[in-house]
Amino acid sequence: MIMKKVALTGIKPTGILHIGNYFGAIKPALELAKEYDARYFIADYHALNTMKDPKELSATIRQVAAGWLSSGLDPEKVIFYRQSSIPETFELTTILMAFTAKGLMNRAHAYKAAVQENTEKGDDPDGGINMGLFTYPVLMAADILLFDSDVVPVGKDQVQHVEMAQDIAQSLNYNYQGEREFSERQFSRELLRLPRAAVQENVAVVPGLDGRKMSKSYGNVIPLFAPEKELRKLIMRIVTNSQGVDEPKDPDTSQIYLLYKLFATGEEQASLAKRYRQGGMGWGEAKEALFAAANRTLAPIREKFDALMADPKKLDAILEEGAEKARPIAAATVARVRKAAGIDFS
Ligand code: TRP
Repeated sequence: MIMKKVALTGIKPTGILHIGNYFGAIKPALELAKEYDARYFIADYHALNTMKDPKELSATIRQVAAGWLSSGLDPEKVIFYRQSSIPETFELTTILMAFTAKGLMNRAHAYKAAVQENTEKGDDPDGGINMGLFTYPVLMAADILLFDSDVVPVGKDQVQHVEMAQDIAQSLNYNYQGEREFSERQFSRELLRLPRAAVQENVAVVPGLDGRKMSKSYGNVIPLFAPEKELRKLIMRIVTNSQGVDEPKDPDTSQIYLLYKLFATGEEQASLAKRYRQGGMGWGEAKEALFAAANRTLAPIREKFDALMADPKKLDAILEEGAEKARPIAAATVARVRKAAGIDFS
């Protein structure tokens, strides 16, 4: 039997999903799951670094889990679980800490940016920075290394973290297995498999309501599960220029058209582009076309989402089933590493 390679990624539950997440992260990850043995999880302990309101955190965890499921994640095919359900994550984290240079953590972008912001304000460089933020890459390395991950689909901002996981794994492999070829007989496998980041190059940049990239921090998002009325209202609010109905318009610089492209078939795209160029179509009409196409895609997702959110027991059971599949894999890795480290007397 040919073993499929493993793809793993963590989803930080820090807010409501929007269509930028859907086209930029969810869809590409679900595509990848067709070819790989996929292990996707909700990184709830990573979220704890910034989310201290318990009600908000548990609500967001469920919303994000329901969001991936309603967007098409099949829990029969993808192992889908909460990070917090895998205690081995935290055991491996502690082991990895002993192999992680503090200097490596000092160089992590997120930590460096926080220090720089403090310094610019004249504050204590470490003001407001918790150890969870500082050691974030070690926890993430444990997430990845526990599951023998080959590829880690992530956005560009996370590539450094995956490289750190690679560095840390190499330190352990080197310490316990030496600088030998793994094909040599004494090792049937590497202690920890080295992961690589897979940055999806050709994913669409989704423009937000104001034309900038759609992002929660810009407050310009279209939520994935906006009720129909709200969806229409948000689309009608998209900022346009003052070109009149008769004027020919350039589809490629119109964010309405760029958004439309995400939802429409090739034929529909070509036909709307033609209407833009001909003139005679106002922005209101373009927005209606966008609303119809968006709603066609989003309505069934929204329905599934609402059903899952109305039945949290079922949702939790799906996540628990995923955790049950994930735990033995994680336990095997931790057992292997403890044995290599000489702290397993079984
Ligand atoms: N740090 C990732 C993010 O902010 C989330 C994450 C946690 C992750 N653990 C991971 C991603 C392991 C990939 C692999 O988006």
